[in-house]
Amino acid sequence: MQIYKVGGAVRDRLLGLPVTDIDWVVVGATTEEMLAQGFRPVGADFPVFLHPKTGEEYALARTERKSGRGYGGFTFHASPEVTLEEDLIRRDLTINAMAEDDQHNLTDPYHGQRDLEARILRHVSPAFAEDPLRVLRVARFAARYAGLGFHVAPPTLELMRQLSASGELQALTAERSWKEISRALMEDQPQVFIEVLRDCGALKELMPEVDALFGVPQPEIHHPEIDSGVHTLSVLEQSALHKQPLTVRWACLLHDLGKGLTPEEEWPRHIAHEHKGLKLIKAVNERFKAPKDCQELALLVGQYHTHGHRALELKASTLLELLQSFDVYRRPQRFEEFIAACEMDARGRKGLEQRSYPQADYLRGAASVARGVAVQPLLEKGFKGPELGEALKRERLKALKAYKENQ
Ligand code: CTP
Repeated sequence: MQIYKVGGAVRDRLLGLPVTDIDWVVVGATTEEMLAQGFRPVGADFPVFLHPKTGEEYALARTERKSGRGYGGFTFHASPEVTLEEDLIRRDLTINAMAEDDQHNLTDPYHGQRDLEARILRHVSPAFAEDPLRVLRVARFAARYAGLGFHVAPPTLELMRQLSASGELQALTAERSWKEISRALMEDQPQVFIEVLRDCGALKELMPEVDALFGVPQPEIHHPEIDSGVHTLSVLEQSALHKQPLTVRWACLLHDLGKGLTPEEEWPRHIAHEHKGLKLIKAVNERFKAPKDCQELALLVGQYHTHGHRALELKASTLLELLQSFDVYRRPQRFEEFIAACEMDARGRKGLEQRSYPQADYLRGAASVARGVAVQPLLEKGFKGPELGEALKRERLKALKAYKENQ
């Protein structure tokens, strides 16, 4: 049997990037031979094994045929006769279809190295269409390597367009999609992920609520970029520039969905878009089974981002309601993430990227004042149960009024 390093490890080494996990392909071996050498099978009928010591993935060279819709609809054909070239041709991109032996000799039948140099993401063959997840993968690679100047080859984008139009994306499981989406959002230029999905029509299939924002105007005075979709991309861009966590990036992407629902005659104003957007945010959250912390923050940011921007003008009672809604007493981190998302929203506007955001410190100060109200004296006065809650609220309100006056 011959063993080759394949995929991302070869690609990233040639790009001079750090390699984290290594995938291997094994040519000329049978399942029985792998098992005899101590490799552990990953699944019952999937020709992938884990190395007994390193835990790295070793896949038997295989050809793949499509037998049904979506994931799980594959049949695998792995046998010792399958050649390295036959294995590589069924892979997604030419830059992912290179193999390297232990002498660092490169096998590159589909010109991955040439495409690496030309900064092109190009599909290897029509077999690309066998897995619709690849539409998301290509968009994710575009987001990751945008800084290096990569772009999607027009014929590949066309194939992605056909795949999106075929309805195949609907067959992807929430788990597979979320894995790609969450990884893409954590790349350096997550906005490129959304742009590429939009360019090939996949955004309309996957997140029509986000797609609907493009072409919807906002008032120029607050939004010099005017377009709600362009604004959303800028907010996402800011969230990456400021190294925000996934929760914040997800909230940034979904914060303005309500603007897509405004009747045209009300444009460019979007009255109550914060509230109207909640059912859309919920739908997107559930569609991809986003983790609980992402879901929660997206809903809270959707509902309250305008409160964040108006923080300095809010009445003490409204400020208190905001803090209560976030449960800042037990969930201080979540409130920090809300503040961060509001700040990204404020900066994700044309020409305003460097603006200061005094609301952030003001909100932090308010949270700390409300948190500083001690329970003990109220307990000593004999308050308990719901009355204690009311008394606490009164004290916090008093403290917030004083905080406002001292600004
Ligand atoms: N692959 C593919 N189609 C997929 C998934 C994977 O063709 N839907 C192939 C590609 O050749 C890819 C390799 O399997 O390079 C390994 O896949 P994976 O580990 O998911 O990705 P990497 O390319 O290693 O990239 P990353 O750095 O994102 O892990």
